[in-house]
Amino acid sequence: MNNIVNILLLVSCAYIATAATDARSPTSLPSSRSSSASQATNLQASSPLKSRSTSTTNAEYLSYAQTAFEVLQNTWYNQSTGLWDNQWWNSANALTTLVELSGLDPSIDSTAQVVYSNMYAQAAIWNLHNFGGVDSFINSYYDDEGWWALAWIKVYDQTQNQIYLQAAIDIFDDMTTGWGAHICGGLLWEKGNKNNSVISDELFLSVAAHLANRLEGTDKQAGLKWALMEWDWFSQSGLINPDYLVMDSLNYNYSCEPTTLPLTYNQGVTLGSLAALNEAAPNNVYLTIAKAIANATINTLVDSNGILKEFCCDKDLDWVQFKGIFMRNLLCLQYASPENAFQAFIEKNTDSIWRNAQNGNNETGSAWHVPFNTASVQAQSSALDCLVAAVAVSM
Ligand SMILES: *[C@@H]1O[C@H](CO)[C@@H](O)[C@H](O)[C@H]1NC(C)=O
Ligand SMILES: *[C@@H]1O[C@H](CO)[C@@H](O)[C@H](O)[C@H]1NC(C)=O
Ligand SMILES: *[C@@H]1O[C@H](CO)[C@@H](O)[C@H](O)[C@H]1NC(C)=O
Ligand SMILES: *[C@@H]1O[C@H](CO)[C@@H](O)[C@H](O)[C@H]1NC(C)=O
Ligand SMILES: *[C@@H]1O[C@H](CO)[C@@H](O)[C@H](O)[C@H]1NC(C)=O
Repeated sequence: MNNIVNILLLVSCAYIATAATDARSPTSLPSSRSSSASQATNLQASSPLKSRSTSTTNAEYLSYAQTAFEVLQNTWYNQSTGLWDNQWWNSANALTTLVELSGLDPSIDSTAQVVYSNMYAQAAIWNLHNFGGVDSFINSYYDDEGWWALAWIKVYDQTQNQIYLQAAIDIFDDMTTGWGAHICGGLLWEKGNKNNSVISDELFLSVAAHLANRLEGTDKQAGLKWALMEWDWFSQSGLINPDYLVMDSLNYNYSCEPTTLPLTYNQGVTLGSLAALNEAAPNNVYLTIAKAIANATINTLVDSNGILKEFCCDKDLDWVQFKGIFMRNLLCLQYASPENAFQAFIEKNTDSIWRNAQNGNNETGSAWHVPFNTASVQAQSSALDCLVAAVAVSM
């Protein structure tokens, strides 16, 4: 997939500032908000905006997001490495969130542009020095590669600069080398390791579908073919359990049955992938499954007030990133096919973050349903995903 001709400007899982009239832009989301107070567990006693589940305004959500972003930059962005706190895959996620925010808030565009070009140059060098002489955004983990491919696709959407799309294509080409060697089928997680988790499969599906939506001709067909091949395996693997929760791995020791917990990011990446696949090869089944997964998540992977919660733990720094990944992908699904319940969920979680989970320095803790504990770049950028989604759905 190297010859890119007549790139189509398609907006999947992204709001593009220059495409304000696009039918799928946030301004075209339905204006009727959730009217079910019980469904929306208000954190405030009463809402002056009767049709909405919260009294927080779009302007307030925007100011939350701007404040959280300022803290992210001032506290963790490292100019010399191009990364936030020199975290590798987490920085790819923070970059994706930044693009989403800059699409909604032109005032940060110039800052964002500098980050894109600085990261593209410096982070690749950091990778070269830290991951055993591998240049660019390729390392030995297929899931890391998937996060970077999705990030550069987003940057391409926002800038229309082809170098970023080419970076994503190059990464994807490398990801295809991990297909078919896993003991249980699907994509490897780590190069040379025939077992382990399936986040790499969810990301592979997402990258393939996102590329198909941006390429034409044989390149588009190649992306779509990979996406359908992955979905064919994934949908039959048992990873989506009968309750529509996506499990984190298969038991490669025995029967390849699904095992371990359903983590929030497994749900998120899967429903974002399905929204992108539906755009590439429209089929209502994809959106129906995605909505069932989203429903299951917002009904079960939550505390008693309906606030998103990682059940394993809220402190492992990698896992702290996951909740934001879910919210970012729920926003993707919301763009594809909006539901009042999803909007209410995004707004309620944002209200909880802002009112409960922050300290006096506008830093967010690792869990959203309890008071602030500790700050980290993972927690900050994860929360930012939720705040950005609230900006988008409350417009
Ligand atoms: C940025 O990263 C470099 C390389 O690891 C490190 O030496 C430097 O201290 C970091 N700078 C900041 C401000 O953290
Ligand atoms: C799974 O991978 C780990 C390394 O991550 C390795 O130690 C283990 O032997 C592998 N198990 C199987 C069944 O291949
Ligand atoms: C595979 O077996 C090993 C050794 O008994 C165990 O530590 C590991 O958790 C098992 N992995 C899975 C995915 O079941
Ligand atoms: C998801 O839940 C909503 C109610 O919040 C319901 O209307 C919808 O049918 C559900 N969708 C699926 C696919 O389960
Ligand atoms: C936190 O953010 C608010 C709103 O942007 C700002 O007024 C306040 O000064 C910030 N607090 C700190 C300690 O930076």
